[in-house]
Amino acid sequence: MNRKMSDKERKLNIDAAFHVTGRTKYLDDLPEWQGTLFAKVFYAPKAHGEITKLDYTKAAQSDGVFRILSYKDIPGENQIGGIIPDEPLLAETELHFIGQPILLILADSELQAEKAKSLVEIEIKEKEVIVDPKEAFEKGELLHASRTFTLGDTNAAFEDCAHVFSGEVASGGQEHLYLETQGAYAFPQNRGSIVVHSSTQGPTAVQRTCARILGVSMNQVEVDVNRIGGGFGGKEDQASPWAAMVALAAFVTGRPVKYILSRHEDLQMTGKRHPYKSEYKIGFDEDLKIKAYEATFYQNGGAAADLSPAVMERTLFHATNSYSVPNVSVTAHGCKTNLPPNTAFRGFGGPQGMFVIESALHNAARKLGLPFHQLQERNLLIEGMEFSYGQIVAEAKAVDCWDQAKRQYDLSRWEREVETFNAKNKYQKKGLSLMPVCFGISFTNTPMNQARALVHVYSDGSVGVSTGAVEMGQGVNTKMVQVAAHAFGIDSQRIKLENTNTTRVANTSPSAASATADLNGKALQDACNQIKDRFTAFIKRALQLKAEDLVGFKEEQVFINNKKVDWPWEDLVNKAFLARENLSAKGHYATPKIHFDKSKEKGHPFAYHVYGTAITEVTVDCLRGIYHFDAVRLVHDFGSSMNPGVDLGQIEGGLVQGMGWMTLEDLVYNEKGELKSGTLATYKIPDANYAPDVIDVQFLETDGHDLAILKSKAVGEPPLMYGIGAYFALTNAVLAFNPNANLTYEAPMTTEKLLMALYS
Ligand code: MTE
Ligand code: HPA
Ligand code: MOS
Repeated sequence: MNRKMSDKERKLNIDAAFHVTGRTKYLDDLPEWQGTLFAKVFYAPKAHGEITKLDYTKAAQSDGVFRILSYKDIPGENQIGGIIPDEPLLAETELHFIGQPILLILADSELQAEKAKSLVEIEIKEKEVIVDPKEAFEKGELLHASRTFTLGDTNAAFEDCAHVFSGEVASGGQEHLYLETQGAYAFPQNRGSIVVHSSTQGPTAVQRTCARILGVSMNQVEVDVNRIGGGFGGKEDQASPWAAMVALAAFVTGRPVKYILSRHEDLQMTGKRHPYKSEYKIGFDEDLKIKAYEATFYQNGGAAADLSPAVMERTLFHATNSYSVPNVSVTAHGCKTNLPPNTAFRGFGGPQGMFVIESALHNAARKLGLPFHQLQERNLLIEGMEFSYGQIVAEAKAVDCWDQAKRQYDLSRWEREVETFNAKNKYQKKGLSLMPVCFGISFTNTPMNQARALVHVYSDGSVGVSTGAVEMGQGVNTKMVQVAAHAFGIDSQRIKLENTNTTRVANTSPSAASATADLNGKALQDACNQIKDRFTAFIKRALQLKAEDLVGFKEEQVFINNKKVDWPWEDLVNKAFLARENLSAKGHYATPKIHFDKSKEKGHPFAYHVYGTAITEVTVDCLRGIYHFDAVRLVHDFGSSMNPGVDLGQIEGGLVQGMGWMTLEDLVYNEKGELKSGTLATYKIPDANYAPDVIDVQFLETDGHDLAILKSKAVGEPPLMYGIGAYFALTNAVLAFNPNANLTYEAPMTTEKLLMALYS
């Protein structure tokens, strides 16, 4: 990082000291209650078929087993589908993917439950297994309605194009590999209600699902989340089944029930990033401006809809990434396959859409004989352009970031160095690529863009803050503390952030879409402002001020007309309390201005966009096909970052996670729907050695955006897409070695694929 930051400016992550000293508490650190039962799932061993025999008498008699639950024990509805009701919690007769839960075994210990699993007898009449999205599409296996976004008239525009190219693109799935696996712990309460501790990004989603399974109303289920050890989208919806299972078991047995998945179970049973297969057609005019772009996306949704319709929608929203395209027609199909239902993963379908247009441009540049980045640059998004979904580009940050990256990192010199290196080395080649990103911030489903917060000021001047935000490592707790401290003008030491709990803050949207800090932060500001308004009225009465006098709160003091009066925060709070003022408030926020009409596929779905440009350099060993990333240097639009330390962490983590998706991480299912990369020996994610030697982040200095919390733009997902640059740095290195290489645009670019490409 080049920008110099003082410690104060960097701001500490309030969790950092506890993380690095191992004192942070996660779900599995909850003390175990006496009488706790431990659950294990017996799941489908085949990807598609009908259960013809299921006998668990032996398993039920096994040591320590208390009870085995099947779908028949569900008092409510056996349904967990969030968007579309197409997924049972426990399978009834049909099995749709390997890992689909069938039985819940409850025992005195995890080991006993595990042992009993092997005693379950099952026979299955197998049916045809589909794992490929295009095959599913051809057979009419769709999870939900296909959608098309259009702008202008692509048919007419292609007629006038000087150059037209078409091709196919594929991108792979991705395992979330959150450090903390999925899990939940349920406690029965009086009169049939339940408390569930869950490792979830979506406490309300968990609450709703538990209530549905139990057949009770939502107020009977309290969901509590201390923090989670990573989610990356994998716990937006897919934390719910485990919570519903332990809730069910606690409800039925009257005992506390705990289930924390082993890594193996988690890898087998949970959905991942959607693999995509896509086709495109792109046309340019004489000046190499894109005139028309068409794409068809085949999304591999797995066996149930889960969040796929929303993910698919975000693919369409990001199909043209950071480019001005006047005529667009993009269609997406949500294809049903016999894999675990795929789900949210950082970027939420956006990366899959963006990889296709980047591939289209890369292929076109190659055919036209000009550098990839020249073609990208010529087509960058400019202010006033319309996205295919009707929103007008309000900030011209795409060009700003691109230009600043070229200038600050001296791209022409960098390119010359790469060329010199390549000229000197026969079997080592460097590749360079630029990757622009434009990512829309807001849940694309407008009603989800709301949040609530609860603030208590205690009579000693300390403050308790509850919001709907879940801390998953992204630093939202720190940001919430900053928001409250800023609002009250007090030291952040005074503020405690409470667990995320559905009883304190109801009807939460999941912590997702990178919008958690914006939504919850603004709700928190609303709550703080209500209390400040009461303090202001109280101060005015107490000091007999005039109506127009300005009361402010800064530096732990009261300010009147911008002048400090000697009235410290603690004393103010205490006096207000004695005067019987209300020291608590509930805040609410709903993002203004956004809307979207699905019947027309037009509107203004995003509060704002986040922009950036990354430059990636890789060195390829052309004898072995192995490679190392030398550097990623990027310019990112943070708005006005409220916490550069936290935000830089998001950039680095997102970038490297995106690079992993594009290169190392090879999620493999065979034709029987069996996961062949189901261990960490066969599924590699980036580590410190893989990470680029240099990650340099420059801040695009702007005033920030009013709809961003404290003008600090959302940062969680956008950097993942810089990782797409890794793919094209590699392809450019391949072309430096073999200009006639037969490139197929199929991510991930594993070393095996790279080696084949070098000699193709
Ligand atoms: N960072 C960490 N350390 N752990 C995570 O699980 N999830 C990502 C991103 N960064 C994640 C993370 C995803 S998928 C999203 S949507 C955002 O954080 C969610 O948090 P935010 O809305 O506060 O950015
Ligand atoms: N992003 C992330 N998660 C979501 C979204 C979205 O747009 N919509 C529903 N869940
Ligand atoms: Mo993030 S994929 O929106 O949880």
